[in-house]
Amino acid sequence: MTRQLHLLVLGNPRFGSSWRYPGVVNGPAAVLESLVETARTAERGTFDAIFFADTLNYGPEAAWAHKATEDFEPFTTTAALSRETERLGLVVTGSATFQAPYHLARQLISLDHLSGGRAGWNVVTSFAEAAAANFGEGGVVAHDERYRIAGETLEVVRKLWDSWGPDTVVEDRTAGVYNDRKAIRVPEHKGEFFSVRGPLGAAPSRQGHPVIFQAGSSTAGRAFAARHAEVVFTGQSDVDRGRAFVERIHQEATAYGRPAPPLVTPSLGFIVGSTEDEAKALERTVFEHFIPEYQIGWLQEVDIDLTGADLDGPVPLSAFAASTETHRTALDGYRALATQGNPTVREFLFRTVTAFGARVAGSPEQVADEIERWFTGRAADGFILNPSGLPGQLDVFVDHVVPILRRRGLFRHEYEGETLREHLGVGSAPRS
Ligand SMILES: Cc1cc2nc3c(=O)[nH]c(=O)nc-3n(C[C@H](O)[C@H](O)[C@H](O)COP(=O)(O)O)c2cc1C
Repeated sequence: MTRQLHLLVLGNPRFGSSWRYPGVVNGPAAVLESLVETARTAERGTFDAIFFADTLNYGPEAAWAHKATEDFEPFTTTAALSRETERLGLVVTGSATFQAPYHLARQLISLDHLSGGRAGWNVVTSFAEAAAANFGEGGVVAHDERYRIAGETLEVVRKLWDSWGPDTVVEDRTAGVYNDRKAIRVPEHKGEFFSVRGPLGAAPSRQGHPVIFQAGSSTAGRAFAARHAEVVFTGQSDVDRGRAFVERIHQEATAYGRPAPPLVTPSLGFIVGSTEDEAKALERTVFEHFIPEYQIGWLQEVDIDLTGADLDGPVPLSAFAASTETHRTALDGYRALATQGNPTVREFLFRTVTAFGARVAGSPEQVADEIERWFTGRAADGFILNPSGLPGQLDVFVDHVVPILRRRGLFRHEYEGETLREHLGVGSAPRS
């Protein structure tokens, strides 16, 4: 079969300053309505999945005055959306730093069952100080140790998922026996960080287990992704960097003896208009409404301090820490952005609205061209799309960009499978 593109959409409804864009209605009820609309639109566009990011904190204090409050928790949000959709994959973020493996295993397999085999888990290692402060006195866990904890978390979660095999449930009503006791595998896990007996009383889902997503780009992060991830998220600013990243992940996955490399889906922020001019006008609207102070607040999280900087002056590189224990790739990515094309502080901050990944603003053909360029250039197997937050942008993408991608033979016309594994073509779930 010819290689096919994979499309996911970022579901978090009120990212950044989008709560103040024209036409946006705020409040829990309106946000729920827009979430359902986004999920249904993505499904109409035969997207692989909707994805919910999560950082277990409300962000740095400098951003509190400017941040909306309807960023609902991913597991409950996707449980609600599972009832509103039939095929769309539902990918949640779960922290392998602060969420216990037993809880993660149970919540994820429940979501997988409730959605008919459509769940995915974005395994993150929480880097934010504000997140660490919500989980005791220990402070931020050191970068590479976070990945060791994550490795053991995944191991425990998989063992718990494997407590029940496909034939463990026998449901013998006459004998009053629901499970073949001998077939229950008790993990009895005792490791460096966790002691978990188990079992987890849940049968495998329609797709076996949730699909594993991961987004590490540092050396330790890439090693984790290359070894364990079935899909890798990343932020890469251009095709060349994207291709180099894909090549590296492929090499590392091969070195771990994996038969097939993981899919790589970089983030892509898009603004699409009926013409290039209209797209640029929409981009100006977004620029006029973004809140520089909000972005300054968030950048503090990765040790970039632009507090008090002249918004219309050049970016002072002294604001960037030499290294960080938080999000190394972000610090490097933002430093690169600050030096490309001599932006003012305001322009640089605007660029960080969609983090340090790729962006495109243009007509449907231009957006499709950009996607095709990355895909055929082996810089991406697909994208995690980040709509600008302007109402209707995902609809325009689905109604005008998706048909072009389909005509070019790059993207499915309809769903061929039912589970997220089938959409992604990542094969059956690995056993522990
Ligand atoms: C598309 C994408 C989505 C991400 N989503 C989250 C998230 O929801 N929560 C989180 O804590 N980190 C998230 N991250 C950050 C990564 O999980 C990871 O912490 C980051 O890449 C730093 O790891 P590194 O130091 O190994 O590069 C995301 C990264 C990317 C590129």
